[in-house]
Amino acid sequence: MRYRKPTPHPSGAKPPKIKADALPRHVAIVMDGNGRWAKQRGMARTKGHEAGEKALFDVVEGALEIGLKEVSVYAFSTENWRRSPEEVRFLMNFNREVIRKRRDEMHERGIKVRWVGRRQKLWASVVKELEEAERLTRRNTAMTLNMCINYGGRAEIVDATRALALDVAKRRIKPDAVTEKLFRKYLDEPKMNDVDLFFRSSGEQRTSNFLMWQSAYAEMVFMDVLWPDVDRLTLWKAIEIYAERERRFGGAE
Ligand code: FPP
Repeated sequence: MRYRKPTPHPSGAKPPKIKADALPRHVAIVMDGNGRWAKQRGMARTKGHEAGEKALFDVVEGALEIGLKEVSVYAFSTENWRRSPEEVRFLMNFNREVIRKRRDEMHERGIKVRWVGRRQKLWASVVKELEEAERLTRRNTAMTLNMCINYGGRAEIVDATRALALDVAKRRIKPDAVTEKLFRKYLDEPKMNDVDLFFRSSGEQRTSNFLMWQSAYAEMVFMDVLWPDVDRLTLWKAIEIYAERERRFGGAE
């Protein structure tokens, strides 16, 4: 299948040369700092989210250029419902419009879009757009983009545990058969790879409940740049930092 090539970065910059085995397969991204970016400019927080859209899609182009196979972005967490009703409403409308507007360009570039998160409480119109994007892009193979919307790591683990407990209660599964491998099948997206590189912008150094199970051995890279100022060069820098790290997964030399 031939897909449309990613649009180059405006500067003409090309991705750094990194050996295939040193490249992360799955990068998880916490797009943090939109509110602060807007505040610094005397603008409403929502203007920061709007500016963040461009950053996200430049990062996506850069991910394709460097050859990532899977990227997950934290667009709305199960805790974000605690924000002001105006901001929640804005983020719901915004997510829906971004998915609708960007769906075709993602499809042309061979991106498989997947929604990861809870259905409960999420606006039906957002679910509809996500499911439409999933349907349209389901056969694409260039890269998978997990849009984590109404997602929380603890919520995901609790939901999986509930479903597994039900299967045990119904005697479909014996308690002794419960292993990490089996448990993973109950997560929102069982096919998701473990996270290799966990990247967060804005200088905050926490995971905020993002992909807890999948990030158990992820390399953490935190960069002091607000999300709207991020672009593919920032992603490539994070990947270079990752490529220099030594990963042992609990083993010794
Ligand atoms: C965090 O910044 C960012 C968000 C809660 C949402 C980010 C969403 C996008 C960039 C659009 C993505 C769209 C899709 C469909 C994937 P913050 O508000 O926490 O910033 P602050 O920490 O400075 O207050």
